Amino acid sequence: MNKKLYITTAIPYVNGKPHIGHALDYLLADIWARYQRQNGHEVRFQAGTDEHGNKIAAKAAEAGIEPKAYTDSTYVNFENLMKKVGASYTDFVRTTDPHHMQSVQYIWQKLQPYIYKGSYEGWYCVGCEAFVSDKEAAANNGVCPDHNQPYQRLSEDNYYLKASAFTDKVTEAIKSDQIKIVPEFRKREFLELIKDGLQDVSISRPKKSLSWGIPVPGDPDQVMYVWLDALSNYITVIGYPDQSVWQDYWPADVQVVGKDIMRFHAGLWPAMLLGLGLELPKKLLVHGMINAGGTKMSKTIGNVVEPNQVIDEYGVDAFRYFFSRHIPTLEDGDFTWEKFESAYNTELANDLGNVIQRVAGMITRYQSGVIGEVPEGEHDMTAYHNAMENLEFDKAIDEVWLMIRSLNQYIENVKPWEIAKKVGKESEAEAHLTEVLNNSVGALIQIGDLLVPFLPAVAEKIHRVFKSGSIVATEGVLFPRIYKHTTDPNAPKA
Ligand code: MSP
Repeated sequence: MNKKLYITTAIPYVNGKPHIGHALDYLLADIWARYQRQNGHEVRFQAGTDEHGNKIAAKAAEAGIEPKAYTDSTYVNFENLMKKVGASYTDFVRTTDPHHMQSVQYIWQKLQPYIYKGSYEGWYCVGCEAFVSDKEAAANNGVCPDHNQPYQRLSEDNYYLKASAFTDKVTEAIKSDQIKIVPEFRKREFLELIKDGLQDVSISRPKKSLSWGIPVPGDPDQVMYVWLDALSNYITVIGYPDQSVWQDYWPADVQVVGKDIMRFHAGLWPAMLLGLGLELPKKLLVHGMINAGGTKMSKTIGNVVEPNQVIDEYGVDAFRYFFSRHIPTLEDGDFTWEKFESAYNTELANDLGNVIQRVAGMITRYQSGVIGEVPEGEHDMTAYHNAMENLEFDKAIDEVWLMIRSLNQYIENVKPWEIAKKVGKESEAEAHLTEVLNNSVGALIQIGDLLVPFLPAVAEKIHRVFKSGSIVATEGVLFPRIYKHTTDPNAPKA
């Protein structure tokens, strides 16, 4: 039976411009969603923006406007980016949406048996929006390594979630792959992190320290901790608790997050779900970080890569290609304009663009554009499908390129243009030429099918050109060569 599926992405803070790291979340989720839909499943795909917390409040203050006015003006950059990368999301949530806020207040009430009041004295990183233990703060010499900012010393009354009550259940769920953390080494890393148990989590802040958040029901002096608010989006966006349709989709099949926020998704979030009596998500796809030229992207260094610029210069399919294949799905990756452009010119323009143009050209020339009986592509794609199931999208698209290369090789070896010269002179030549061209079309259609999740526009183009029985000419070159960032002295000038 075709099941209803649900995939989620981390909701970014809207206190800056989107960068390629944010786009990666959307892209990975989109590849999975398109693959599942291609296989006949209905997929719900959530995205959204995280709009509360100190970080946002501080930015709004800098801009001299109210936080809500600030997020109204910035969230749209993220939604536009989702559209621009071609993400086929079905739902978009802002944590400032009234439905979300009311639902989170309901969640708070429902978690009451596990909430208690206590006082906190210790360290907080505004960048992470997280409390850190004395041990961690000392190990990092008082400065958060991810945000390069000193921890703040806090002393305040907070509400706590008794996450410790769920240590055994959460540990067991992760160990047994009930929540399957992909890749396996992240699962081990997380189990190691919680080997002494889950710690209770502070889930509110006094209003005087944090005014920009969802009010705690029944306590006008307290505001909810931004992670409790943000994690809830995964269920509020599908209608929890008031629209029963959420039950058709929860538990999520896959939740896509970066490694920096795995601990919230593998610890606090399952504890919240257990406290609510809800099922645990099935898989957590933990991707790595993208660096730029070997260093972490940072505004100070000035090496932040804007996805909009990449897409404007090279097109969305080139963007999707590089980030799905050359950024390893489950490990850290690196972006440079040179690497990007070289992959574009050699692998998209040369390998893929050429073979499409070449086969279409030969059929037009030798068969007046008429495509004969096309055999099914016969390439064994088990490795591709296994990689897709294992959430190793980079490996899956590698398989497609192996196939593209072998098709190019086949054409080089068989030399249809030589066979064409023999047509009318040798009796077998015409049939042989047709067979070669039809085999090539069969392979290209299969390549088109396999590219649907990755490069939807190119896949559609391949299908349009080759699937109707006669060649449908394309407008322009598929991937015109671009030399803007090359270091090759022999390359043509841009
Ligand atoms: N708001 C929280 C997430 C709440 S989810 C309930 C947050 N926001 S974020 O803007 O900092 O990050 C959003 C996503 O982008 C995360 O999955 C994060 O890992 C990812 N990335 C941020 N920088 C990244 C790179 N440089 N490379 C790859 N992904 C990165 O955390």
